[in-house]
Parts: sequence; structure tokens; C-alpha cells
Amino acid sequence: MLVGTPARVLHGWAALTGAAALPPSWALGYQHARWGFGSEREVRRVAEGYLERGLPLSALHLDIDHYRGHRVFTVDRERFPDLPGMAADLRERGVRLVSIVDPAVKAEPGLAVYDEGVAEDAFVKDARGRLVRGEVWPGEAVFPDFTDPGVRRWWGGLYQERLAQGFAGFWHDMNEPVSFAAFGDPTLPRSSRHALEGRSGDHREAHNVYGLTMARAGYEGLRALRPDERPFLFSRSGWAGMQRYGGTWSGDVATGWPGLRASLALVLGLGLCGVPYSGPDIGGFTGFPSPELFLRWFQLGAYLPLFRTHAAMTAGRREPWEFGAEVLEHAGAAMRERTRLLPYFVTLAHLAQRTGAPYVRPVWWRSPEDRALRDCEDEFLLGDALLVAPVLEAGADRRAVRLPRGRWYDTATGQAHEGPGQVLLDAPPSRIPVLARAGSVVPVAGEDGRVELDVWAPAAGRTGGGVLITDAGAGWGRPEVVRFTTRARGGVVTVEQGGAGGGVPGADARLSRGRGGGGPLPCGAVRLVSGGSCRVLPPYGVS
Ligand code: NOJ
Repeated sequence: MLVGTPARVLHGWAALTGAAALPPSWALGYQHARWGFGSEREVRRVAEGYLERGLPLSALHLDIDHYRGHRVFTVDRERFPDLPGMAADLRERGVRLVSIVDPAVKAEPGLAVYDEGVAEDAFVKDARGRLVRGEVWPGEAVFPDFTDPGVRRWWGGLYQERLAQGFAGFWHDMNEPVSFAAFGDPTLPRSSRHALEGRSGDHREAHNVYGLTMARAGYEGLRALRPDERPFLFSRSGWAGMQRYGGTWSGDVATGWPGLRASLALVLGLGLCGVPYSGPDIGGFTGFPSPELFLRWFQLGAYLPLFRTHAAMTAGRREPWEFGAEVLEHAGAAMRERTRLLPYFVTLAHLAQRTGAPYVRPVWWRSPEDRALRDCEDEFLLGDALLVAPVLEAGADRRAVRLPRGRWYDTATGQAHEGPGQVLLDAPPSRIPVLARAGSVVPVAGEDGRVELDVWAPAAGRTGGGVLITDAGAGWGRPEVVRFTTRARGGVVTVEQGGAGGGVPGADARLSRGRGGGGPLPCGAVRLVSGGSCRVLPPYGVS
């Protein structure tokens, strides 16, 4: 039995179900997806739209329309004549390509993946040994049995084709698994047979682990094919433990204010279930969000682990410039703030892996006994340091924000508020309220890309702290961990480095460390954001 504080329970849960995979740092940046880009030219046009406006775009996601007739592991060469070339061009400009991967394989003799799968005896069969056929995007289709280790190995090897096309990350879809049905369960027949790791059983037992085992196949395949890079994979379906292989997303959340509200509930709930990396289709999957709804969704998304716009073929556009100059300006600000917070997100990703604590936590995380906080479902903690209060309703330009105990600074105005309690804060179209816990240290990217620290002064006589964890971005190198303690005494705030020392790659090596000397510095600069004077020990330099 797991009992105790949320942090303790999640730690125990991660010990039972596995540590979360660490996304490559580019997967913590902004990503844009679309069902129906339709052509290489359109993909390039959208990428250019972001780049020419100076909007930081980390990845573009290609949906099933880039496959040849919806056949997985193929490319429609008429509309995408040179995917590797396009991927390389975009990569040079800092944009990765992510590929959707569906499990269903078109049942078509002559199609390499089908023929190979038949030869490997990879597809799910019925009790009489006949292939189970379903209906998915490519038409009549068969389904790999991922509960068989040999099938996972075979499937994992297929990602070689995707890597050769230039894809850097993977988006697993339709893996409940879906088989379209006019009535009854839109999935495989319950009597379908599965290997279940050699134990053998039927689909009633295998259904819930289908997505999980597909994620395992993809993850292990990528580790073998591209051992130097951390896989990036997220999956529509999964089960306890899926976090070992990657994250998930909202699926087809409906466009509308209820969908926006549900997006936050989903990410919070998944985090508490041990799946820390997730996010919604910003703007909703289905329809045409108003500029206001799109902007508010975007502003929430900027503080969630998976920050991605996506929409259905028949839905409206999701590029921020399609919603007018005002939305573009404010969405751009949200993207830039996300980029600034990247070192914090990377730190949170490492903490999720090490401790089981999700990036996005309910406001009662540290005080589960506080009833008022427990009823509060429209705001969240991002790590230990930040409290984010998104706007989830139309027409609001201020909102009530419930504060856990302690002092909280409004990051926009610097004003201090004392918790526990509730305050009314401005939420103009340009921003949503974000508060910082007094005493916290938030690692951020400085103008020149070096890591800086935002230090929020502790209340007089109190202490606080934070941690910075950095890594090489996409590989497996040993991360560097630096801990900080903050203290306020006699009107002076001190920031002290503690914990494991060592340098942080990319940190400014020019500033000398003062006493102790030697070695690169943990950060480029320390910024006391909450006013007053700041002394940094050892003195790294204060900006
Ligand atoms: C369903 C997924 O949830 C959605 O994100 C995707 O665009 C469509 N399938 C088409 O692949």
C-alpha cells in the first residue's frame, strides 16, 4: 500500500511502475501538428511562417496524410517527394519532424510491412488461427501482436525507415487499438488471441496493454537503432507504466471552452497517475476556435509539458498568425516565455524521472489537508516554484487565484501576496497570472542562451531553494545537478550553491567563482526578480 504525501505516493508508484522516460530537450519546446498538411510545400510554408516571424518552433508533426494511401511506414512520394531533404533543411533551422505511427497494417499482399509481418507471424489471429482483420484508415487491416516480444523486436526495427526519412520523434495513434465498427466495440474481437509474453490469452486481457506494449516496441526499437539519442515518443493509448517509454496527449479534445478546461484536468490527472509528460491539442481537435479561445488555450499550453497545436483535417487553422495581430503578439509572448523557461522544464523532466513528481501538480500538492485547495481545479503548480492560473472562460480579464500557504509573487507585477487565501489578479489578453513561490530559484535561459537564475526573495527570516539539472539535450550523458539555498536576512538575500558541484555545459566560464575558484560556473547570472539587494555565495555575478 502506498500512503503519505502526494510526493511520497508518486515516488512509490514510480518505483512500482517505472521511471518516466526523459524527453530530449527539444520535445519541451513548442510543436505544431496538423492532419492534412497535404504536401511538402505546405509543411515548408508553415515552418517558414513561424521562422520568419521569429517564433520559436521546435517540431512539426506529420499525420497519416503523408503516408501512401494511409499505409504505415510508407511515404506518398508525389506529395512528399523528398522528405529526407526537407527534414535536413528544417533541422538546420532548429525544427525537427515527428511522424505519426499507427499500428494497423493494410492487409495487402505485396506491401513489404504486411508480407514481412505475415512471415514473422506477427499479426493477431483468432482462435482458429486466421488473421483478425479490421477496418482502419488504409482499409482492411491487420494488427501486430505487441504482447509478443519477437513481434516487438520486428516492429521496433521498422522505425529504421522513419529515421531514414529524417524523422526525429514518434506519435503513436489509434492504438487502443481502433478498428472502425458500425456497432459493437470499435476494436478487436474479444476472442482474438494474443501471446501475452508467452502466457497466451485473449483480447479481453490484452486490450488495455496494447498501447503500452506498442510504446515499448517503438522505444526499444529506437534505442537499438539510434543508441546515442533519447527516443521521443508519445502515445494516444497506454496503461500504468507507459511513462517508461514516453508520454501521451489529450486525443481528440473538442474545440470549445469545456475542452480547454478538460485539457488541464487531463494533464493534472495523468501526472497523478504517474504519466508526467502530456498536453492537449491546443485549440481543440475538432473545430474553429474563436481568437480568444485559441489564445487562452495557447497560454495554458505554454506551461504544460507537451506544448502542441493540432487539428483535424476539417478543422480551422492553428497557426497563431491566423487569428489576427493581437493573438499573434500574445501567443508569441507565450512562446518566448516557454523558451525562457526551458531550463526549468528540463529540470522538471529530470525530477519527474528521479522522483515520480509530475511537472504539473495540483495546488494541494504540498498541503493535501487544505480543503479549499483540494476543491481548486482551475490552476496548478508547475514544479515547486510556479503557480499558473489559466483563463478557462470567455470574456474574463481577471480571475480569482487561490494561494497555498506562504508568500507568492505575481511574476508580472512583482507584487507579493500572502497565502493561504484567495486573491483577484489581472488576466488581460496579453497573459495569464503566474506566481512564484517566495524563496524559489527558477533556472531560465538568458538572452544569449546561457542559464540564468530567477531568484524570488524568501520572506524575511525565511529560507528557500531550488535545483538546476542540465544535460546534453538529447543524449544519455550524465546530468549535472546543482542545488541552491536562498535566505533573507537583514534585507539581504543570499543565494548559496550546495549539493553536487561541477560545471554546467554552456554556462559562462568567464565569470570567476570568487572563493573556491576554478571550474565552470553553474549559471551565467543570477537575477533577484523580487526587488531588494542580492548577495550570491559564492559570488557568480548578479545582473
Ligand atoms: C486520431 C488522432 O487522435 C488525431 O490526433 C489524428 O489527427 C487522427 N487520428 C488522424 O491520424
